[in-house]
Amino acid sequence: MINPRVFVSRKIFPEALELLSQVAEVDVWPDELPPNPQELGNKIANADGLLTTIMDRIDASILDRAPRLKVISQLAVGLDNVDVEEASRRGILVGFTPGILSKATADVGFALLLSAARRIGESERWVRAGGWEMSFHPMYWLGAEVNGATLGIVGLGQIGLEMAKRGLGFDMRVIYHSRTRKPELEEKYGLEYVPPQELLSESDFVSLHIPLTPETRHFISEPELRMMKSTAILINLARGPVVDTKALYTALSEKWIQAAALDVTDPEPISPDDPLLTLDNLVITPHIGSASVSTRREMCMVAARNLAAGIRGEKMEHCANPEIYPSKGL
Ligand code: NAP
Ligand code: GLV
Repeated sequence: MINPRVFVSRKIFPEALELLSQVAEVDVWPDELPPNPQELGNKIANADGLLTTIMDRIDASILDRAPRLKVISQLAVGLDNVDVEEASRRGILVGFTPGILSKATADVGFALLLSAARRIGESERWVRAGGWEMSFHPMYWLGAEVNGATLGIVGLGQIGLEMAKRGLGFDMRVIYHSRTRKPELEEKYGLEYVPPQELLSESDFVSLHIPLTPETRHFISEPELRMMKSTAILINLARGPVVDTKALYTALSEKWIQAAALDVTDPEPISPDDPLLTLDNLVITPHIGSASVSTRREMCMVAARNLAAGIRGEKMEHCANPEIYPSKGL
């Protein structure tokens, strides 16, 4: 009998590869840059399983190249790069890694919030450039107070809730807007549900935690930025296209809002020539939300276990299309 074959589109933790090698022949993309669609198509032409990251676009045209594929395992919680409906139509299971990365990601979210509020990146650049000539000045480097401020969470899912908890730890008032109202979380944590317009106009910090879907693309654009306080700070930890980049540049350069902090951009990676990077009131990190050693290791292990389960014809730990289990006798 031919061994199942899996393609892993990026180097991952060796223990996850070891786990996969117990169920399949494993082919790992060796380069630092991801495979282009042509290369990915070639690699999955004979594969039964695929371990992907958010940089691989998995749509009908790539799936046409993979007639044997039974399972896709995404090394992420966000699935905007994978056409899950198309995979379901073809009977392909899709795994993902929700929950385990929420705390690490919210830690970066709060680090970005604090950095933008207290001008950490901007003042560090100033020190390194030789600008610090006197020890202390009562009027230098004034920033926004976090304690007691209002934090507006957009998308009260797993990461949004962790961000809310961090806000409560800093004695913030936390308001939220989400697709579904969550009375039990309101009661447990003292959160307030508000419509989107109210969230934008009342928040000192607006933090985005919604998935990228056709509905949420440019969720924040010119009208929304104009609704925000001139002292407000926008944090985007979700996906770049949730924010209209051009509108954000105008809002920051014309000071409609005070600052923004981004872990994600549109496009990603951001070009070194992007005008956003000229702005002092922007804090930016290169999509590092889940990048702690233990969280990334656990994500690799969950993604490997999801893939191995799919290959063995078993239920996954985290499946994005469990509605197709019955068609597979599961
Ligand atoms: P989640 O638990 O599914 O939470 C997403 C929340 O957004 C849910 O509560 C959801 O609906 C709500 N929502 C969906 N569409 C909405 C809409 N149109 N309007 C308002 N609320 C809406 O996912 P998560 O684990 O928190 O992850 C959220 C996103 O973060 C991911 O999709 C990914 O794009 C991003 N992410 C980024 C990083 C990073 O490194 N920067 C790391 C991980 C994830 P309900 O209100 O119905 O529950
Ligand atoms: C990272 O961005 C993820 O969606 O897990």
